[in-house]
Amino acid sequence: MWRQLSALLLLGTSVANAAGSWTSTPFSPHSVPLAVRTPYLSAWLPQGAGSALNDRWAQYWTGSTLGWTGFIRVDGKVYSWMGAPEGDGFTKATQTDMEFTSSSSFFNLAAGPVDITISFLSPVLPTDLLRLSLPFAYMSISVSSTDDNVHDVQVYTDISGEWAAGIATDPIKWETHLGAIVTHQVQLQKQEPFEEADQQSRSGSAVYSVSNSTGLTFQTGEDKVVRAAFVSNGKLSNAQDSEFRAASDRWPVFAFAKDLGSVSCQTDPLVFTIGHIRDPAAKYLLAGGATQDRSSYFFSELNSQDDVIKFVMDDFEKVTDLATKFDDQVKEDAAKVSPEYAGIVELSLRQAFGACELTISKNADGSFNKDDLLFFMKEISSDGNMNTVDVVFPAWPVLLWANPELGKYLLEPLFAYQKSGQYPNPWAVHDLGANYPKAIGHNDGKDEAMQVEESGNMIIMELSYIMKTNDTSQAEKYIDLLHQWAGFLVTDSLIPGHQLSTDDFQGPLENQTNLAIKGIIGIKSMSVICDILGDADNAKKYGDTAADYVTQFQALATASTGDHLTLKYGDDATWGTTYNLYADKLLGLNLFPQSIYDMQTAWYKKQIMNFGLQLDTRNKRAKTDWEIWNAAISDDDLRTQIIKAVATYAADGKGDQPFGDLYNAEDGTLEGFRARPVSGGHLAIMALNSQKAPAPVPPPATPNCTAQKKHKKRIVQGARKH
Ligand SMILES: *[C@@H]1O[C@H](CO)[C@@H](O)[C@H](O)[C@H]1NC(C)=O
Ligand SMILES: *[C@@H]1O[C@H](CO)[C@@H](O)[C@H](O)[C@H]1NC(C)=O
Ligand SMILES: *[C@@H]1O[C@H](CO)[C@@H](O)[C@H](O)[C@H]1NC(C)=O
Ligand SMILES: *[C@@H]1O[C@H](CO)[C@@H](O)[C@H](O)[C@H]1NC(C)=O
Repeated sequence: MWRQLSALLLLGTSVANAAGSWTSTPFSPHSVPLAVRTPYLSAWLPQGAGSALNDRWAQYWTGSTLGWTGFIRVDGKVYSWMGAPEGDGFTKATQTDMEFTSSSSFFNLAAGPVDITISFLSPVLPTDLLRLSLPFAYMSISVSSTDDNVHDVQVYTDISGEWAAGIATDPIKWETHLGAIVTHQVQLQKQEPFEEADQQSRSGSAVYSVSNSTGLTFQTGEDKVVRAAFVSNGKLSNAQDSEFRAASDRWPVFAFAKDLGSVSCQTDPLVFTIGHIRDPAAKYLLAGGATQDRSSYFFSELNSQDDVIKFVMDDFEKVTDLATKFDDQVKEDAAKVSPEYAGIVELSLRQAFGACELTISKNADGSFNKDDLLFFMKEISSDGNMNTVDVVFPAWPVLLWANPELGKYLLEPLFAYQKSGQYPNPWAVHDLGANYPKAIGHNDGKDEAMQVEESGNMIIMELSYIMKTNDTSQAEKYIDLLHQWAGFLVTDSLIPGHQLSTDDFQGPLENQTNLAIKGIIGIKSMSVICDILGDADNAKKYGDTAADYVTQFQALATASTGDHLTLKYGDDATWGTTYNLYADKLLGLNLFPQSIYDMQTAWYKKQIMNFGLQLDTRNKRAKTDWEIWNAAISDDDLRTQIIKAVATYAADGKGDQPFGDLYNAEDGTLEGFRARPVSGGHLAIMALNSQKAPAPVPPPATPNCTAQKKHKKRIVQGARKH
């Protein structure tokens, strides 16, 4: 199935730059996702105030260039439609429309008497584990005549060595595989598994493919030479440059050309796939200190690289259909909140999943162990840690909404590592490893400590997973750890010590109101987990403590003026957003009285600025994820205001980086973070609305931990709150 641009272009905004003007739907973001699937396949089109597909080069999420070029030759006249190639003999096609959905970005350009539509598909299919795990995106091209005449058309595209080399001066090598599918494969000469260079992988290959068909030609060689060949001849020489060198040394490009012949009506899509494959994909520390090499999940269903590329190529129609259905579902659910909210969410999906990879281990006999799936997330841009608990936590709503099973696979290695006894601290670890994709833990205990933050996060996420799925197996397996962290919260969360919260860029602080909320909700969540597992004694113990703390907390955290919660206890001049209350609503705990929500909502209405609601009184910084969390638990009026402010920021044209979650609430300028998976937190309103959690089941008459397994089946029937 070939997707057309939406008929709803009227909803879009008009964008203009020196080169022309076009319509952007649903809005013009700071950067448009092109091929965004994994931490290492992440290509974007920077926008600023507006850039057409052929105004600038595509960029890796860091902002470094990814050469990706497009030309079209119409009756012998050549136009560029992608990238910023230099040279003679061509002019630029004129962009008329850009549109994005959750998984696709579409561009329409006019090239003389033909229109060219380019579609970039990065399928987001969270419940389809094979397709979810494929590190591939599609670019497809369709051409139609706009003047009732038939035109002679050839199309060209190339990629540069920058797709395989984070450092362009590192030597690369390449090969073109011929056959039913033609593939350019590019890789660093020196392969270093699990290492990165300027945030790109130092191992694996970039692969660019197209189906072989009549009129297809290819070439590898210096950019100027290869492009000039197409510009002059409308075809390539099928020659391979065998002088391997650095990506920046006479810029080798990997090109295809296709003669479409005489074009009148819309042509069938010409489909290219672009991927970045590596094997092994991640290193993982086991109990006992050995490490395990893990593979991308798709290798358990598709044997070789050739099989993978063939599957991806053959899958285009099917996956387009699946992705369209998913996009529609996202849009429908998000639009129930508002059109602005839908736009924010649609921009967020590829980014959230594009930080993640599903992996699998092998059994001793070399077969894959289908019972051992782990989902890894890179803390993109802020520090590159692996499965950072306080980054998984803000991203969590997208997993709850789209597939909570993936949440289980994300938490599993964190639980397993800490159960192995190698992590020395009593609180929950910050992350699984300082440098993605090395999940080697922090056996020295010197991870970035966020004691209350991470301990609360783990318990809250586990309970939300159980409530969404009725699956208690993970909580049962790691019940001792959950008790350990809950115990830590009991001693350390009502009066939190001098420590960091997830907003570490604000620095540490003692007695943080919002951290206390997290800790207290964590304690109550543990009460509910115990209840569900049939441990009534502990359920009561934790429940009583949480209730008592809520009472004490209100006295400690409410400003003496009675109109807001302070940022830290006892300092009336401070305030901060208490987005941690979201979990109270999400889990249906109703632990904190409605009066607190009402007070905070009234306060925020007085504080909100044009571009958003600042995080706290230390500065004007706002976080898009936490703003949406707040919006989810405020009244309709404030919710609308927050969403409008975030949408204003997202479309303000002041940035050219993948969705940055940290910015200035007063003037909408960016503060550095980019492409982070926390954009998954923008689904907080949808996750809350979809949380039709069953009420917890009554505990068994004489509950205890040895009895819990027997009761599991019954618990799954529903759970009752105390
Ligand atoms: C395309 O297929 C033909 C026929 O099988 C083959 O001769 C040719 O080498 C292939 N071309 C490429 C670029 O793989
Ligand atoms: C934290 O709050 C508690 C309770 O009000 C108080 O006793 C303590 O001095 C505060 N700590 C700091 C460092 O302000
Ligand atoms: C725990 O429950 C099991 C099964 O109901 C029961 O046999 C056992 O006596 C109980 N143990 C305690 C300490 O209550
Ligand atoms: C969980 O159990 C409840 C009660 O039996 C049921 O209504 C609900 O559909 C179950 N949820 C899932 C995801 O199985």
